[in-house]
Amino acid sequence: MNDNLHQLRCFGCGARIAGVEALPDFRCAVCGDLFEVEYPGWVERRGPDRPNPGALKWLWRERRSSSEALDHSGVWRFRELLPILDSFGNAVTLREGNTPLYHLPRTSKALGIDQLFAKHQGMNPTGSFKDTGMTSAMSVARERGFEWVACASTGNTSASMAAYAARAGLRSLVLIPDGKIAWGKLSQAMDYGAVTCQLKADFDGCLRLLTQIVKEAPIYLLNSVNPYRLEGQKTPAFEIAESFDWNVPDHLIVPGGNLGNSSALGKGFRELHELGLVGRMPRISVIQAVGANPLVRSLAANRGASLEPVEAHTRATAIRIGNPASWRKAARVILDTGGWCLDVTEAEIAIAKAELGAEGLGCEPASAVTLAGLKKLRAQGKVAPNETVVLVLTGHTLKDADYTIDFHRGTLLTEEEKAGKEAETDALRRNAVVVDATPAAVLATLKGSVG
Ligand code: F0G
Repeated sequence: MNDNLHQLRCFGCGARIAGVEALPDFRCAVCGDLFEVEYPGWVERRGPDRPNPGALKWLWRERRSSSEALDHSGVWRFRELLPILDSFGNAVTLREGNTPLYHLPRTSKALGIDQLFAKHQGMNPTGSFKDTGMTSAMSVARERGFEWVACASTGNTSASMAAYAARAGLRSLVLIPDGKIAWGKLSQAMDYGAVTCQLKADFDGCLRLLTQIVKEAPIYLLNSVNPYRLEGQKTPAFEIAESFDWNVPDHLIVPGGNLGNSSALGKGFRELHELGLVGRMPRISVIQAVGANPLVRSLAANRGASLEPVEAHTRATAIRIGNPASWRKAARVILDTGGWCLDVTEAEIAIAKAELGAEGLGCEPASAVTLAGLKKLRAQGKVAPNETVVLVLTGHTLKDADYTIDFHRGTLLTEEEKAGKEAETDALRRNAVVVDATPAAVLATLKGSVG
């Protein structure tokens, strides 16, 4: 049986093509914009391929106790909503998804919000949300017979791609900016056997170069311009809706880099709504770093009609992106759901990350922008106390241990960055201390840290 029910639709001009007709750079031949996967059988209310909401909710929950490998995946568990393969037998999975949704009691209280949660996508097999999209797009690469796959990356995409390529028996090529990525991520790409090139370029330069390379060699591009990445990355929306018994939260807050993730989550919730699985969409807000905020500027300048690239600078290296590929899709999600797009400073990111750490939930700096953004939205009165809010934490804290250590040692932020926030940062710092190996010395240290 052929499981494949999809086609591709250009987000810019609406041109429709079959999946196999996509160009190597996944740009529309007519207008140059990106494609989105669509399922024509769903459009008609009683179309033969239109899934049945009640039956699906039951089936997806049942699969959690199944012994089938595909059912163990938090992406393929929802496979009726991503029929992108000729055969689901071609799926490449590392048991991604099914990530925890944590309540944040202390932060809720501090912010005066009843219901604040973190969906921790850092709890995926390679430690970031990228795995949910990599399983779907890598499966397409394998089914279509590619031997090589490639991505440009700020680190997490490359770690994920290298792992899934190794599982699929494919070779992988990674282009990353020299120096500006976290070591944990680089080590993963090496360990999983990727050919890793560190380029004297930023992320945007790496992606530009790779776009040229895939036009000259039979290499499958696995950046989020590839619409099949977004099909897997939409499934956390399904998990979140399921966790709330199909009553969606009021507000979802997502970090913004290349803007694939916010686009994908928006698509996920939109499809749930269109298919009648949920009654409404959550508000979706996107947060960027002040030094890498092209979408914030675009929405402020002309409501997302055009985007001016910026030269990006932030210690949250995962989102150090000045020319995001999926900006049109993300802008649409924000505008359609009534969300906001704002930016946060280096000090705000560091403080929010330490606050999440103090809840027992570490995360990457790029993930902590969500809490920093929520604090701003709350202060501006844009989030009410009775709202249910979900922060999407995108990466595991161990990805970038240097950042965390520098923060707690007090060497992360410059005086200028810290200005006005010294007391807040100092209260959160927990530096390691060197003490004599005697009970008295350890007990004295303990005494000194109480109160
Ligand atoms: N958070 C983390 C931890 C990331 O690694 C990324 C992106 C983002 C947020 C932003 O997501 O790009 O979909 O808006 N990392 C990419 C990479 C660019 O190469 O690993 P986005």
